[in-house]
Amino acid sequence: MAIGARTWPIVLAGVLAGTAAAQAEITRVEVMADSCLACHGAEAQGPGPMPAINDLTEQGIVNKLMTFREDEAKDATLMNRHAPAYSQDEIRAIAEHIANLE
Ligand code: HEC
Repeated sequence: MAIGARTWPIVLAGVLAGTAAAQAEITRVEVMADSCLACHGAEAQGPGPMPAINDLTEQGIVNKLMTFREDEAKDATLMNRHAPAYSQDEIRAIAEHIANLE
């Protein structure tokens, strides 16, 4: 059956409903990690002046973040402001997510 002009709105509604369902599956951790990847690159490869973090282990990312969080990285420009916004549990979850990017 060809899709007629009257059927398109129904097809479109289905596609939009599917999109909404897919968005609902994005977890809080993914949203938080995406904010990291906005700077560090979609694959954490560190474009431009941002350091790559795809070479760090999960624990390595946690350690760096905790150092930034305690403001012990004295030469930091951004991360010392960014890291305190997350709890330790959130940092662990974000690190796990980034270290396991496909
Ligand atoms: C606004 C851009 C920006 C955002 C957002 C950001 N970073 Fe960073 N990140 C940097 C910069 C710049 C550095 C270098 C240290 C500095 O100057 O603060 C850095 C350094 C790091 C380092 C240390 C890298 C190394 O090899 O020493 C890690 C790990 C890291 N960021 C992880 C994260 C995580 C995890 C998040 C999300 C919670 C995040 N970053 C969000 C810009 C950003």
